Amino acid sequence: MSAQQVNTVHAAVIMDGNGRWAQARGLPRTFGHREGAKTVRRAVEAAPNLGIDTLTLYAFSSDNWVRPKPEISALMRLFHRHLRSETAELVDMGVRLSLVGRRDRLPRKVQDAAASAEEATAGGTRLHLRLAIDYSARDLLVRAADELASNGLRPPFGRDSFAEALGRAMGEDEPARDVDVLIRTSGEQRLSDFLLWECAYAEFVFTDRLWPDFDAEDFAACMREFRGRDRRYGACPSSVAAG
Ligand code: FPP
Repeated sequence: MSAQQVNTVHAAVIMDGNGRWAQARGLPRTFGHREGAKTVRRAVEAAPNLGIDTLTLYAFSSDNWVRPKPEISALMRLFHRHLRSETAELVDMGVRLSLVGRRDRLPRKVQDAAASAEEATAGGTRLHLRLAIDYSARDLLVRAADELASNGLRPPFGRDSFAEALGRAMGEDEPARDVDVLIRTSGEQRLSDFLLWECAYAEFVFTDRLWPDFDAEDFAACMREFRGRDRRYGACPSSVAAG
């Protein structure tokens, strides 16, 4: 990281390819998820050194409930186990953890483990790690709109008040924050109902690497690609003269 570079990047990752990683080895898909959880740990360790202060990871979409029951159960067990076993380490690393997404459909023990981890890590200031579990951006947008309407507020709503409502819909004290870079592994190139509002000006970086194989150097390469982009937010390229 250069001397001037400050840790203010919101990176979001669609962790894709666990199933293919396992199938390529003749293993059940759940082995891929287990390996993928190890990659989560590596990514969390690497993120602050890459200038990232907020990392949002897509762990389970609201559309993933259609997967076979044994795979869902294995994922829920994995979330439960890691939320419990990693909390102390997250505290030591200065990581604040929060869940974004619906909680009420998660097994009670996952809900409880998440609440405990959130409480224990609340003081972390080095990295905000947001796990998107039972997450649907479209559902959250609708919930934010419902909340504004049911509070008796009348349109037109500004972007700021909408972002605040979206933050509240995710259970956060802060407005929904723009994503700077969206990374998706495994070669797929779509957003899959993730952070639709927040990605309005995100830079997209796609890598063929399957999530279980994604290492610190791959993460660094994605961030180099992001930092090389010319972010214009609708303005002209800086090379274009005025007039
Ligand atoms: C997508 O790959 C991955 C998931 C649906 C699960 C992601 C979960 C993890 C990486 C484990 C996270 C663990 C913790 C503790 C947060 P896929 O199964 O769709 O893979 P495929 O496209 O190759 O089938």
